[in-house]
Amino acid sequence: MEQLKGNKYGTHRVIEPKGVLTQAAWKIDNDMTKRYSNEIICDVISLNIDSASFTQIEEACGGDEQKIADMIMGIVAERGKQQNPVTGSGGMFIGKVAYIGEDLKDRDLKVGDKIASLVSLSLTPLKIEKILAVHKDIDRVDIVGQAVLFESGIYAKLPEDMSEPLALAALDVAGAPAQARKLPKEGDSVLILGANGKSGVLCGYEAMKKVGPNGNVVGVVRNPKQVPALMELGVYNKVIVASATEPVAVLEAALEANGGKEYDISICCVNVENCEMSAILPVRDDGIVYFFSMATSFTKAALGAEGIGKDVTMIIGNGYTKDHAEITLNVLRENEKLRKLFDEKYC
Ligand SMILES: NC(=O)c1ccc[n+]([C@@H]2O[C@H](COP(=O)([O-])OP(=O)(O)OC[C@H]3O[C@@H](n4cnc5c(N)ncnc54)[C@H](OP(=O)(O)O)[C@@H]3O)[C@@H](O)[C@H]2O)c1
Repeated sequence: MEQLKGNKYGTHRVIEPKGVLTQAAWKIDNDMTKRYSNEIICDVISLNIDSASFTQIEEACGGDEQKIADMIMGIVAERGKQQNPVTGSGGMFIGKVAYIGEDLKDRDLKVGDKIASLVSLSLTPLKIEKILAVHKDIDRVDIVGQAVLFESGIYAKLPEDMSEPLALAALDVAGAPAQARKLPKEGDSVLILGANGKSGVLCGYEAMKKVGPNGNVVGVVRNPKQVPALMELGVYNKVIVASATEPVAVLEAALEANGGKEYDISICCVNVENCEMSAILPVRDDGIVYFFSMATSFTKAALGAEGIGKDVTMIIGNGYTKDHAEITLNVLRENEKLRKLFDEKYC
């Protein structure tokens, strides 16, 4: 069959509106019978739905698994991709390579390899034939279906030294720990909101390594029962209890845990809205606020920082940063406690 050449970024699959990239498109073409010379097609095994998106879908469906499955089928049928219309976010997939276009034959990849997509489902053409299982506790959905990776789409071959679910769970949030390694300096203080979550603990681990014994890494959780296990995990110097939707309470507890000083950096890893000010308020002028959470509002962050006269650098949590997959998988290789936690909680 003659192969068509598509656009490197996938714009050939945009149906509406024309002129935008696939992430911003309302609807994209998920016809898997079309063969482009610069695409990879995978038989999908599981979707890891982004936490903010899954939380929204689960709430909208009252927690009913069949309704969750129907809603996901509906979104994909309508849009050609798993992009939550409310949160705008997606997630990632793992699957087996089924087709590699002629132009991509020089890649270190062959049909049958298992890979994890490292680009968002919110821009990935996806066709679902059926949903096999909804795993509510880990935001995962097993399916029969296919997905497309464009020429620019990044992916990771699944490692052989860990199980698929383990690698998938970690790679889902790969951008966060890699940034938590990059942003702090030795001796910095770092505040992590959503400290008990998947990205939170990985960030805590990387930040602790980077700031060293003279630094201070403080986690924020809303549930006091999580504190002992988190301290035992050893990825925070201190863990404080406050709701990230209540900035004044977070500020007070956070300052107390940092000798009354404002923080050099905060990292927002929560999965709910209205946490912008809890991340901004405790940070010093010229400090850094890293918004990994997909529930972050640009407007609330920008106007909120302005409103309190804070000159902080705010970073949008780009899911990709150099070597992010390797850095994240290495956390699990380096730290047995974290690996055990991930195995028990997300696999
Ligand atoms: N930027 C990117 O590329 C990218 C990629 C993947 C994911 N994300 C986003 O990153 C965020 C975190 O993902 P994740 O997988 O780490 O999520 P997760 O494992 O579900 O963790 C989220 C944490 O936030 C906590 N939380 C919720 N509401 C809170 C509140 N009011 N106060 C304090 N803590 C609160 C939760 O606490 P409980 O344990 O009490 O529920 C949970 O521990 C999500 O928004 C996700 O969508 C971003």
